Amino acid sequence: MEMIQRPRRLRRNPVIRSMVRETRVSPDSLIYPLFVCEGKGIRHEIPSLPGQYHYSVDTLQKAAEETLQAGVHAIMLFGLPGEKDEKGSGAYAENGVIQRAVRELKKNFPELFVITDVCLCEYTSHGHCGMLRGCEVDNDATLPLLAKTALSHVQAGADMVAPSDMMDGRVAAIRRTLDQNGYTDIPILSYAVKYASSFYGPFREAAGSAPAFGDRKSYQMDFHNRREALREAALDVEEGADILMVKPAMSYLDIVRECRDAFSLPIAAYSVSGEYAMIKAAAARGWIDEEKIVCEAAAGVFRAGASILETYYAKELAQFMKEGRIG
Ligand code: PBG
Repeated sequence: MEMIQRPRRLRRNPVIRSMVRETRVSPDSLIYPLFVCEGKGIRHEIPSLPGQYHYSVDTLQKAAEETLQAGVHAIMLFGLPGEKDEKGSGAYAENGVIQRAVRELKKNFPELFVITDVCLCEYTSHGHCGMLRGCEVDNDATLPLLAKTALSHVQAGADMVAPSDMMDGRVAAIRRTLDQNGYTDIPILSYAVKYASSFYGPFREAAGSAPAFGDRKSYQMDFHNRREALREAALDVEEGADILMVKPAMSYLDIVRECRDAFSLPIAAYSVSGEYAMIKAAAARGWIDEEKIVCEAAAGVFRAGASILETYYAKELAQFMKEGRIG
C-alpha cells in the first residue's frame, strides 16, 4: 500500500515512543493533601477515602516523612478542629490545629513545602465557608476572617496559602494582610476556579464540613459555565494570585486548558476526593487496573495544561514516575 504518512512509525518501540512523548511528568509537580485533627496518637483511616488518614499533630510527622521519602515535597493541610462555632474561630486561633501542625512540621522538616487550605467550612458550626447573615453567606464580613486565617498560617511557618472559600475579593484581602505584616514573599495559590461539585462528597465526610443547610451554590461556581471560569481566574490574577487552581480536575479538563491558554501564571488542578474514591472503589471490585488508571488520569491533567497536580495519589504517582510507568 502506498502511504507517505504512517503515524505508527513513531510508536514501534518504547524508545521512540518515549522520544516523541509530548507530556513529561515529574514528582516535583505533585501536592499531597493531608488531614490533621486534635488529639494524640491518632491515625484513623477515612472510610470514604481508603488509604488516607486523619492524623493528630504527632503522627502527622511520620506521614510527612513518608511523603518526602516517596519523593513528594509539597503537602496541603486541612484541619479538623476540636470545636466549631459560628465564626469559625478555630481557623485563626493561634493554637489551632493547623497552626500547631505547621509549626511542628517546619521544625522537623524545614525542606517540606507546607501549603495550607484557607477556608472556614471545617471550623464553622453551620459548615458554610463564610460568616452567615441570616441564611446567606456574607461575603465582605468573611474577608477579614480569611485574611486573619491566612496570616496565622504564615506566622506559624506556612510556605504558601491556598484560599478555597470562593468569596469575592479574598485574594486581594489576603495579599494586603500578608504584605502589611511583612510577608510579601509568601505566594497565594488561589482556588480560582472552584465548582460547586458533588465530587467533594468524600472530603466533606472526611473533614466533617458538609453544610448544615442548603448548598454552596451561592459561592462556588455552576458547573455549566466556562466563560465565568475565565472571569474568576482573571479577577484573581488582578488581585495578586501567584498560582491558579482549577477544581475538580477530571470533569474540568477543558477549563484547565482554557486557563492555561489564557494566563501566564502556573495552573494547578485538584483531583478531588470523589475522583480518588471512584478509582479506589472500582479497583477494589477488580473492575479496573488501579495503577494504570491513576497514571492515565494524571497524564490527562498534565496534557490539559496543568503544571501542578494535587492528588490523594501523589505518593503512588511519584513512585510510578520513578519507575517510568508514566511520562
Ligand atoms: C474547603 C475545601 C473543600 C475541598 C477542598 N477545600 C470542600 C468543599 O468545598 O466543600 C474539597 C477537596 C476534595 O474533595 O478532595 N472549602
